[in-house]
Parts: sequence; C-alpha cells; structure tokens
Amino acid sequence: MTEDNTITRRRYLQASGAIGAVTLAGCAEDETADGGELEIVHWWTAGGEEEALNALLDGFQEEHSDVEINNNPAPGGAGAAIDAEIQTRVLDQDPPSTFQIWPGEALRPYTDADALEPVDDLWEDEAHDAYLDGVVDAASPEGDIVSVPINIHRLNNVFYNVEVLDDAGIDVDAIESPGDLLDAFETADEAGYVGLAQQTQQPWGTLQLWEVVFTGQHGVDAFQQFLDGEAADLEDEINESLSLVADYSEYFNEDAGTVAWDEANADVITGDAAFHHNGDWAAGEYQGADDFEYGEQWDYAPFPGTEGVYTLVMDSFVMPTNNPSPDATEAFISYCSTIDAQERFNPRKGSIPPRTDVPTDEFPPFLQTQMDDFKGSDTQITSIAHGSGLKPDLASQVEEAFAVFTDNWNPDETTQELVEIF
Ligand code: GAL
Repeated sequence: MTEDNTITRRRYLQASGAIGAVTLAGCAEDETADGGELEIVHWWTAGGEEEALNALLDGFQEEHSDVEINNNPAPGGAGAAIDAEIQTRVLDQDPPSTFQIWPGEALRPYTDADALEPVDDLWEDEAHDAYLDGVVDAASPEGDIVSVPINIHRLNNVFYNVEVLDDAGIDVDAIESPGDLLDAFETADEAGYVGLAQQTQQPWGTLQLWEVVFTGQHGVDAFQQFLDGEAADLEDEINESLSLVADYSEYFNEDAGTVAWDEANADVITGDAAFHHNGDWAAGEYQGADDFEYGEQWDYAPFPGTEGVYTLVMDSFVMPTNNPSPDATEAFISYCSTIDAQERFNPRKGSIPPRTDVPTDEFPPFLQTQMDDFKGSDTQITSIAHGSGLKPDLASQVEEAFAVFTDNWNPDETTQELVEIF
C-alpha cells in the first residue's frame, strides 16, 4: 500500500474489532470441500442486503456444489469496517478469496500495489458486450479489468411514508429544492413525526446527505468540480449546503447518533418518520416489510433539485493475488458476470443490473422505474461516501471532516476543513 493510502487511526481501530471476528470464523472452518473454500468478505448484513447476497450464493452453489462458502461479513454500512480489515490482510499477504469493493477510485490502492489479478478472461464472453461502458471503465482503472461489478444503486433518492405525508398535509410534488425539503421536515415535526430518519453514528450518512444537497443546490458541474479538487473555488457553495444539512439535523430522530442506517430507515416503515434519504438499498428493506407496499405505503422521489441525475453507487468483487482458492474464486468471479447472478441479486438488493441484457420481469415496479430513470438520465455521477468518486486517502479525510461536523454542526469550520484537504 502506498504512503498515500495509509489507514487513518480511526479506521484502523474500527478494523481491529473486525479482524478478531475473522480469526474466530477461521477456527470453525476446518473442513474444505473438493472445490476449495471460498472466503467472501462483504458488509451486507442488513435485511434486504443479506437476502440478496444469499440469493447470489445459492445461485453460485447450484452450479458449484463442490465449493464450500465461508461467508465472512465485516458489518458496517458503506464499508465502515471493511477497508482497514482488507488492507491489513492484503499487506500480510493473507487475503480472503474475494471481497466486496466499489469499482472506481476505491480500487486504486490495490491496483497501485499490484494486489489484484486481472479478471478480463474470467468474465463470461457475452458479458463484455452486455455491460455498460462506464461500468467496465470503473472496473478497470489501470487498463485490465480487475473486478466484476454486480449492481448499480442510485444514491440521490428521498424515500417517504405516504400515509405520514398525507396525515401531515405534505404535498411531495411541491418540494422542488433542498430548501423546500426543510420546510417539509418542519411540517412533519409539527404533526408529531420525525422529519428525516437518519443515522449519524457513522459519518458516511451525513456525507452522502451533504453530497446530494450540494448537487441539488448547485448542480452536477459544481459537484464534479469539487471531486476534481477545486474546493477552494466553491467555499460559498459548500458552506451553504453544510448550513442546510445542519438545519436538517434539527429534524433527525433523537437516536440518530446510536443507530445504523437500517434502524433509522425502520422509522419510516413503522410510520414514526416522514422521510429517509439513502441509496436505493433502503428500498430493499421496504420490499421485505409486511403490509408496506410501493406506491401505497411508501414512495420515493429523486432528491429535490437532482431530477435527471443518477448518482451511481456500484459494488463489485475482486480476485486478490496470493489467492487462497484460485479455482473457486475464478468460478465465483465468472458467475457474478452472468445474467443468472445479476437477476437473483439485484431485485432483492434494490439495485439495477450493470448488464443491459438481464430480463426485467423479475424486478419490482420500483426498480423498473429506476431503470427507466437511469436510461433517461442526463448525467451520471459518482459519490465520495461510496468510494467511487475520490481516491481513498482523500475520501477518508473528507469522512473525518464529517465525523467532526456531526458533532458540532459548524458549517464554517467544516468548510475550511474541506478546502484544506485539497
Ligand atoms: C454502499 C454499498 C451498498 C450498500 C450501502 C449501505 O456503499 O455500495 O451496496 O451496502 O453501502 O451499506
């Protein structure tokens, strides 16, 4: 790992707990099937996400029953615990068979360290033409394809409980800007509901909220300018967006600081909260809830001011060098590139497939809408909180700034910190 990508102390501490879990899981796994043991590290332990992964693994095992799966999660939304754990194992030349990673900038520390095998040849032949070009580019930061993307999430959504909005008298069609959304939170609050169900326990939740607020207020070009390192030219814009997020925080659930994203999202399902901002993995939770139907009890809108924008969050699997199970890992990477894999995984995950030839009839109406929105989108951009937008060393400094922001909600101080990072 290069100097640039040194793990911050905070991330390192988060990781040490997770490494303990790895050791324990390792002890329990003495027996290996003939096809080898496939150790897969990921962070999908929340409701719909766990179901999606299990559906993927079931499909894989139907074709490869001789491979034993060592399903070894490093829980923590948006990979809060995974990267330090994986970096340590890669440095120690003791990687798992495969691990979850965002395509794009997040791959760079690993490609810089030659820690990933090229996987071009492992992708199913037809997959090469069927994948969207931009996705293939993200999977090949240095030329060779080094990962297999399996999903595309949209980040710039706002979800809401339809009955709560009706009861509070909020007309969602009248919310046209991030500022209007603040007024809606206030109206929900006056009617006795939580305005915005949010988690502030980990900084990524507030970072992604700021990303979509900023895009909604100032547009994608300004956001891209920020990603390109021009924060110093955007001080006023950054400050304005941070101020609005600080205003939003007045309407968060009281336990925002101690809950995970899926627990916050549950407040929308129970009807305690009006809105939730998140990637569409949140919809995976609604799909699993009883008596909670799309269009009846819950609905969504693109985050105000970002219609026509599709903020991409993708996930992929890689083949680390020094691979403990080359055959099984190759089989898994190859499987993930298939229609079968993407058709099982995505409907449950709340994401759309990166292959354009996956039949859509298995997808729920909400995801059909997302597919249409994706096809009709004017711009696709990446996110900092979900790894594709900035190099990991910068992304983790931005996260640190947001960890402080969620303590003091001081826009001036955080604006300065963000400017200084670049
Ligand atoms: C993202 C990831 C999604 C989802 C989300 C919440 O970073 O790409 O698949 O897991 O975090 O944890």
